[in-house]
Amino acid sequence: MVSGEIIKVHSLSKKFSGINVLENINFAIKKGESLSIIGPSGCGKTTLLYIIGGLLRPDAGQVLIHGREVKGAKDDVAFILQDYGLLPWKTVRENVELGLKIKGVEKTTRDALSLRALQELNIEKLSLRFPSNLSGGEKQRVAIARALVSSPEILLMDEPFSSLDTLTREKLQNTIKTIQIEKKLTMVIVTHSIEEGVFLGDKIIIMNSHPGRVEVMIENKNRRSLDFRGSQHFYKICNKVRGIIEKGERE
Ligand SMILES: Nc1ncnc2c1ncn2[C@@H]1O[C@H](COP(=O)(O)OP(=O)(O)OP(=O)(O)O)[C@@H](O)[C@H]1O
Ligand SMILES: [Mg+2]
Repeated sequence: MVSGEIIKVHSLSKKFSGINVLENINFAIKKGESLSIIGPSGCGKTTLLYIIGGLLRPDAGQVLIHGREVKGAKDDVAFILQDYGLLPWKTVRENVELGLKIKGVEKTTRDALSLRALQELNIEKLSLRFPSNLSGGEKQRVAIARALVSSPEILLMDEPFSSLDTLTREKLQNTIKTIQIEKKLTMVIVTHSIEEGVFLGDKIIIMNSHPGRVEVMIENKNRRSLDFRGSQHFYKICNKVRGIIEKGERE
């Protein structure tokens, strides 16, 4: 492994029912970097994310985290899925504390950590509510707080903001970007949105399908600047990504 690399995906392939879904995927990301994965529906993005998170095993190749092969789910890797995964019979605060409770963290520490996560996501006032009484954006904040409460090193997200309206979505993108940079989180986000991928990824992978492969990996060097969303660089990279996707669709 090259120094500084935290996740390395090496010659990875996966079949479902004898059909190649992912074929010879290779890339690496460094500690504190974020990676966006963009690609057409069915190209294997979720499958790839699950393999990185240790929830699925590849048929060939491997994923290394800190140089060690991933063979199952790990404590320092947090997942945020599209449907939030909140327990409806637990309050916001209980949902956020869930992982800590499962790990046997004692109550005083649990209280302190969950309060901090709720404050960070600006949902402290929702602590006693149940998920059914929250908006989509609020539910997503709870899901993010729950993922971050145990200070994971790696955050994996599968289209986390796709069901939200544009304004809520952009607000949450800003929140997650600030947190990711401040905490030096290593992050992988799967998205259908070119703008979201470009806004959030230090690196952007564009996949093509049947079988899913990495078409291109783009370095997105300017994305950390504060006014990135309104900048020329942002539009330039979005157009570049769009061009690559359209070319892939024509071929
Ligand atoms: N458990 C499974 N058994 C059989 N085939 C599967 C299974 N999971 C996924 N597939 C197939 O593998 C391919 C990749 O699926 P995957 O969910 O990874 O795609 P995706 O890129 O995340 O798509 P989307 O953008 O629609 O979420 C699809 O053709 C899908 O039908
Ligand atoms: Mg998917």
